[in-house]
Amino acid sequence: MSLRTRSSLDIDEDDLQQISSESTKLVFEYLTTISERPVRAENHAGKTLAAIETELSREGRPIAQLLAECRTIMDLSRHNGHPRFFGYVASPSTPVGTYADLIASALNANITCWRSGPAGTEIERMVVRWLGALINYDRDAKGLLTSGGSMANMIALLIAHRRKSGVNTSRLGLWNSGPPMTIYASQEVHLSIAKAADILGFGRNQVRVIACDERQRMRVDMLRQKIEADRREGLRPFCVVGSAGTVNTGVVDPLNEIADVAVEFDLWFHVDGAYGAPGSLAEGKKHLFAGLERADSVSLDPHKWLYVPVDAGCLLFRDEAAARAAFSTEDADYIKTHGYTDEEAFAFWDYGVELSRRFRALKVWMTLQYYGSRRIAETISEDIALAAYLGELVSSADDLELLAPVELSICCFRYVGADVDLDRLNERIMELVQKGGRAYLSNATVNGKFALRACITNFRTTKADIEETLAAVRDAAEVLTQRRHDAT
Ligand SMILES: Cc1ncc(COP(=O)(O)O)c(C=O)c1O
Repeated sequence: MSLRTRSSLDIDEDDLQQISSESTKLVFEYLTTISERPVRAENHAGKTLAAIETELSREGRPIAQLLAECRTIMDLSRHNGHPRFFGYVASPSTPVGTYADLIASALNANITCWRSGPAGTEIERMVVRWLGALINYDRDAKGLLTSGGSMANMIALLIAHRRKSGVNTSRLGLWNSGPPMTIYASQEVHLSIAKAADILGFGRNQVRVIACDERQRMRVDMLRQKIEADRREGLRPFCVVGSAGTVNTGVVDPLNEIADVAVEFDLWFHVDGAYGAPGSLAEGKKHLFAGLERADSVSLDPHKWLYVPVDAGCLLFRDEAAARAAFSTEDADYIKTHGYTDEEAFAFWDYGVELSRRFRALKVWMTLQYYGSRRIAETISEDIALAAYLGELVSSADDLELLAPVELSICCFRYVGADVDLDRLNERIMELVQKGGRAYLSNATVNGKFALRACITNFRTTKADIEETLAAVRDAAEVLTQRRHDAT
């Protein structure tokens, strides 16, 4: 093999021009047709692979063919940016965020530390401060961008544990760190908390589940009782997690009251605002978030309700030393920032799990700066108003039932226009609506009932889309109840 004398994988300027303009055209076509597509393409397992070349090419393939296959892959996808996509917590990416991600990939900076990504590190630390200010947490917030809310929650729990354990658990391991330490969260908390407790070795049972009131908010009297009971048992409560926008119904826990309990029992107070924290930008909703500013840490996902493309989560905190104590390591020579001091010695590996990290901050920065916080806040308010409108339509209909108050942008309801097993019927309505491609709802269990759940974090959604979604639900119900009628 000869030694290389010129770049081997760069492509000539004509081909570079072609890939740049053709892929931009493809993105343009996608962004301008997304609303006219079915929400979800008619699809089945294996259809995508049947539609493209599946042999790994030995000699390479022309870009035109690959872009044609990209078009097929896009066509066969579920379109989370469609105006009637209301499943889970998924928002469309703004066009600006889309192109920012392309620029970040072109630069391919690895934001491990200032030395490796000086510009990216400064942008990320600034964006973290902006996010802290935006949600009224702390305009001097510290923290980092993460792959998402699950990672942010896990990092928060580790910091909390190390801050409160009283011994060097990093060295000793949990088994040499005294009696079990316990976490408190409501029954509505996101699954990522229990999962993190499992991964971090605390154990899922150490997440003590606190009952909710009739509005699905944590019962703080029960929280206090549980902590006291656990203390009497010799356990060591160390953290309470409040939800600022639960994944099921979007309610905000009584954060101020939880903060009081955290102070009383010397617990770390983490707020999971991965979905809901940007709801605090809406004028009529600020009161719900009172107490968030008292949290020791807050998760918030720009890739959810700030319309930034996946992946972009964020963990905010104030106590930088606590985060460093949990993550910094003296063991590895190869990452030491020799010759750098102060700000230039800053390293994200001291604050989280990842070493190699994408330049996530660019798309957050560009989205926030292009639209400005006022326009983003207005869009969030509109999402909230549309969810309320859906709630009103449901409440005023005889064949529909609202299953939870609409507090932020999630509406949970069910079809009740037939005298059948309503859980089963609504489950099948959801399946039919999802597969039909007219709209997309997911599900939740609310007070033991199967709910159709619409989460509106979608700047493309209009009033007409809400009406069309209910029409799709009623049409599905009609098909299903007619089928049942025909069968009897
Ligand atoms: C309240 C809440 N927390 C955490 C998460 C996890 O976020 P991610 O999917 O970005 O890991 C979600 C996801 O929907 C959520 O709604």
